Amino acid sequence: MLKVLRKVVIWCEIDQTAAGNKQEYRSLGELVTILFAVILGMGLSELGEVKSGYDLAVLFLGYLTVILSWWGYNWGIIRHPETNKLNYFVDVFLMAVYWWLIYQRDPLWMVLSGYITMFGLYWIWEAVRLCNEEGLGASKRKILQNASRLNRRFFLLSGILLVLNLDLLGVTLGGGLSVLALFLIVVGYRWLIHRIYHPKGNLEVQTKPVNDLEQTLANQARDAARNARVHLSHFRVGAAIAAESGNIYTGCNIEFDNYSNTIHAEESAISAFVTAGEKRAIAIAVYTFVDDIAFPCGMCRQSLFELGGKDMKVLACNPHSSETRTMDELLPAGFKL
Ligand code: THU
Ligand code: ZN
Repeated sequence: MLKVLRKVVIWCEIDQTAAGNKQEYRSLGELVTILFAVILGMGLSELGEVKSGYDLAVLFLGYLTVILSWWGYNWGIIRHPETNKLNYFVDVFLMAVYWWLIYQRDPLWMVLSGYITMFGLYWIWEAVRLCNEEGLGASKRKILQNASRLNRRFFLLSGILLVLNLDLLGVTLGGGLSVLALFLIVVGYRWLIHRIYHPKGNLEVQTKPVNDLEQTLANQARDAARNARVHLSHFRVGAAIAAESGNIYTGCNIEFDNYSNTIHAEESAISAFVTAGEKRAIAIAVYTFVDDIAFPCGMCRQSLFELGGKDMKVLACNPHSSETRTMDELLPAGFKL
């Protein structure tokens, strides 16, 4: 039974930390399609209870905000992974509107029960993913643990609010106070879960300690990755090369509609490096937003080997971790004329 459940979770794995890579979202897309079907079905069944034009408008707006919120969230994390503040505010706004619209139709205790179920399901979802430990990196496990803890707390919080509203303890929160508390729960939850899934860009969990130069290179590569032109692959890469002179040169991948004109992030950093008159490279950082950090491809390894020799340091990083190798490890017996 647990095995089947694990398979299901892996199949529809929502890998939010892997934002930037469209491939990772194929399965998420399937999940969203199912969700849309459920939402549409719910909307159709509720149509039977519509008594006035106002009812219909509220129903229509409510379902529209759910769909927009989902679409905006997924579009946002694919397009602008890591720091997508605008998306967060739109999402929170839509959630608040959605919640207010349901409140127009249903009593508060029903809305609250909906939220308890939601936090409960999220909690179970993350717990099952955590059980499936194999293949989980340390950084990802930490994200899931934090998310699971947060969901548990919000589950309890909305449970307490429900109990207060059901008047089970003899103390009742006023309707206005409950509405305010629920609003804060919705906004607070979105804010905290966003922070857990999108930790600040600096390497927070490090598989290896990095020195000042490596940290600077990683930050500059990350900033360059944000400018990547990746309408075809949605796979952002940034690179920062440190020259012997002390200067740093950055680049990002640039894709073109005919595919073959694509320039790798390392190539564009190398162009800047050589154009500035540099001869010798000592280190490079390559930054991607996917969970499995990526080292330069074979072609780029050859170019870097020629510029930096076998002792050149190659740092591969993502928002949660970094790993350093030497050029010799990545390209033993590199080609030389
Ligand atoms: N890419 C790089 O920028 N560097 C590499 O070493 C591997 C691949 C880019 C090229 C393309 O825009 C995208 O990643 C997907 O292949
Ligand atoms: Zn390459």
